[in-house]
Amino acid sequence: MSDEKFYYPPQHIIDNAHVQDYDALYKHSIENREEFWAAEAEKLEWYKKWDSVFDYSRKPFFEWFSGGQTNIVLNAIDRHLQTWRLNKLAIIWEGEPGDVRTLSYHALNREVCKFANILKGMGVRKGDIVTIYMPQIPELPIAMLACAKIGAAHSVVYGGFSVEALAARIEDARSRVLVTADGGWRRGKVTDLKSIANEAMRRSPTIEVCITVKRTGHDVVMENDRDFWYHDLAALPIASAKCDTEVMNSEDMLFILYTSGTTGKPKGLVHTHGGYSVYTSTTHRYVFDIKDEDRYWCAADPGWITGHSYLVYAPLINGSTIMMYEGAPNHPYPNRWWQMIEKYGITILYTSPTAIRGLMRFGDNWVKRHDLTTLRLLGSVGEPINPEAWRWYHKVVGGERCPIMDTWWQTETGGFMITPLPITPLKPGSATRPFFGNEVKVVDEHGVDVPANEEGKLVITHPSPGMARTILGDPERWATTYWSDFAKQGYYTAGDSARIDEDGYVWVIGRLDDVIKVSGYRLGTAEVESALVSHPTVAEAAAIALPHELKGNAIHCYVLLRNNITGSRELEEQLKEHVAKEIGPIAKPDAVNFVDALPKTRSGKIMRRVLKARAQGLDAGDISTLEE
Ligand code: WTA
Repeated sequence: MSDEKFYYPPQHIIDNAHVQDYDALYKHSIENREEFWAAEAEKLEWYKKWDSVFDYSRKPFFEWFSGGQTNIVLNAIDRHLQTWRLNKLAIIWEGEPGDVRTLSYHALNREVCKFANILKGMGVRKGDIVTIYMPQIPELPIAMLACAKIGAAHSVVYGGFSVEALAARIEDARSRVLVTADGGWRRGKVTDLKSIANEAMRRSPTIEVCITVKRTGHDVVMENDRDFWYHDLAALPIASAKCDTEVMNSEDMLFILYTSGTTGKPKGLVHTHGGYSVYTSTTHRYVFDIKDEDRYWCAADPGWITGHSYLVYAPLINGSTIMMYEGAPNHPYPNRWWQMIEKYGITILYTSPTAIRGLMRFGDNWVKRHDLTTLRLLGSVGEPINPEAWRWYHKVVGGERCPIMDTWWQTETGGFMITPLPITPLKPGSATRPFFGNEVKVVDEHGVDVPANEEGKLVITHPSPGMARTILGDPERWATTYWSDFAKQGYYTAGDSARIDEDGYVWVIGRLDDVIKVSGYRLGTAEVESALVSHPTVAEAAAIALPHELKGNAIHCYVLLRNNITGSRELEEQLKEHVAKEIGPIAKPDAVNFVDALPKTRSGKIMRRVLKARAQGLDAGDISTLEE
């Protein structure tokens, strides 16, 4: 082991870290997995303790802490009210225009209770799925917590998604209630959530009640008997600031979160109260070394798993003060984030490689104008971080004092799977070693470990407590997508390629399937393709991901037009806009190419691999299955 390849954390960080000996605790956690997780679960509150820690009698479906009763809100709010944290700040929120709101745990509890009572008043019952489509305002986590409190599941749809994406998710969840807002601020403009919601409700008519939070005050269309302003409901006597927390079984549904896969239909991954509470809070505490005096900022949108687990639930369970910001990182100037870190004394910043690359582009001076010495730890998530961005983040943002926690995980895993701890010697671009309880391997197509430094498929050998339990309404798909490649060995297939080096450090390379990561946001080629095909000029379409310096991936599309229609620059623009309008601006293709034919297998499957190789001027590899 030569030393120059490692970045060592500063001694005072090592001395104060919760975990002092990774190797010993890791060994213990693998050899005594259930004991390890039971000990962590003991740190939380339960209405009733579990009967069994782990049950795998219905492989590949599993349960953690079954027989136990809790509610994530019992741990995220209720228990803090009995302690000095009652008046500790839970949320510091800054709007893009510069308005600020703060909520103590006491105030957060009152808001959550009010929202919960309103939902109950609107007929929401235990087991219902409420769809939430909101900008980044405090009412978003409040609505999530309110659902959890009364035993309803939430399905948060990212506020940057558009009509078709929202409609498909409402329909799949058969939601009766939608929570939205009159918009949010982004780059000085209002995002028009309510019109998109109105159009989505027209396409998916299961919504009977739509609750709208007033954020921007601009005009929106409200429909009688269906649409209600939140502030009107909050003024009614039903909206009291006291509400009991529902007793939930460990394995009861907490939320569903849709994510992209290989087909056009997004999959609703189901997460549950017990194991998810334990897993997210444990990973958060150990990896970010959470102390009571921290001010923790996860700059992800709550509409994605990172926001669910590490902006809302884990930090609140750990009693942290969380920072939340509504708008764009470079509005009005590229120092907005650095200004907020200085102003609020942020100690931990967790963001994505895309955001880092985007801010790096503006140069060091925007950062250097601010005193960022409160920062102690940094984090990265969403895609592999290129060493150049890593070094900049480390040097310019972290002043060479702050270790970077490069956390690898997925919507499916609920929490960090491969990640450094604050004591871990780091290598830029590697997520380092597995978190406690997890064994990860890189294998060939037969499930056999490949030698060190060779690329293969990333697998996880055993279910962990924070993993999703199934796909809503489609358990078969859960089993086949993740657990069938190496069923004999019982491995979970992540869908990523990776290599493990001679020090046991994991290097995640990228997706092996049809998932695209644009600016860290997860999209499916099939969703982009079905949006294209919904345009009247398009007969067939294929979408691929090509490397992009800033965004990680860029979306390139190949389109076969209908008879008698010829491609033009105007049509190219129209098609790009169409995709942005259907799915959301993040899905807007970088290029649309018109072609006469698409490479297909004899069974008619589009060979995206061939398109990708051609676009990059590479050899397309084995094309023996290519149709004539
Ligand atoms: C990728 C986001 C490299 C990976 C939490 C994974 C990463 C997918 C990292 C899941 C990382 C996430 N290094 N790649 N630190 N973190 N990924 O569901 O391809 O939006 O499979 O969850 O993001 O994306 P998802």
